[in-house]
Amino acid sequence: MSEILLDAVDLTKHYGSVEALRGASFQARAGEVTALIGDNGAGKSTLVKCLSGAEQPTSGRILLDGTEVHLDSPVAARRAGIETVYQDLAVAPELDPAANLFLGREIPRKGLLGKLGMLDKAEMRRQAVAEFERLGVTLQSTSVPIGSLSGGQRQSVAVARSVVWASKVVFMDEPTAALGVLQRERVLDVIKKVRDKGIAVVLISHNMPEVLSVSDRIEVLRLGKRVARFAGADTKLEDLVAAMTGALVQEEAA
Ligand SMILES: Nc1ncnc2c1ncn2[C@@H]1O[C@H](COP(=O)(O)OP(=O)(O)OP(=O)(O)O)[C@@H](O)[C@H]1O
Ligand SMILES: [Mg+2]
Repeated sequence: MSEILLDAVDLTKHYGSVEALRGASFQARAGEVTALIGDNGAGKSTLVKCLSGAEQPTSGRILLDGTEVHLDSPVAARRAGIETVYQDLAVAPELDPAANLFLGREIPRKGLLGKLGMLDKAEMRRQAVAEFERLGVTLQSTSVPIGSLSGGQRQSVAVARSVVWASKVVFMDEPTAALGVLQRERVLDVIKKVRDKGIAVVLISHNMPEVLSVSDRIEVLRLGKRVARFAGADTKLEDLVAAMTGALVQEEAA
């Protein structure tokens, strides 16, 4: 059994009077795909935002590699090795795919021009084309603004960006929701490759066959709390559904 890389303990998140998380716990391990599933509104995206620095939990603890961390911002999370594909896509629509891949990590030009803030666009484009090729992202052009690409292509770029930079954890909040059959298969292949590099991949999906095919573990969230955990391979679809609907509860409310 691989080690627990990310350990969220008893997180709560209040938005005014709404309790999006009510003591949710979650664990992800290096070199495994952990699926985070639950009905609409269960708190999955909120949990991901809290674990990737986009939101601050109201209470609870987050441990990375056994050490408590405070992820004050997405930048802090990225520095800690955590990358995220958000459900509400966070790409910069006015920039091209290569620029999106290097957003926040631009390569400066060599010498004085670089010191003056000039970017090495040719080098970034070259590396971006190589990464897109490696990850099976097919784009007609890497030089048009990403806002003019299809929704699925944008999603593919967001997935590529996350896996290129992640060193510890990748969260993917419904990364295949807008994808066609072939692109979906590619993303699932990418997920397996990233997992095999020893990264903890966290997949949120409503597609249960997809969840069962790719996950090493499955954690179920319901009404802002984890209610059940399963080992991927020998999980039955009806058990997942039962946990999501509240018919099956493994972890009693505190
Ligand atoms: N910014 C916010 N302000 C107020 N309430 C919020 C906010 N974000 C989420 N919520 C509420 O928190 C609860 C959990 O939402 P969340 O988006 O985490 O669910 P989810 O499990 O990701 O659902 P889905 O499967 O539909 O994406 C919902 O009741 C939602 O309305
Ligand atoms: Mg969501």
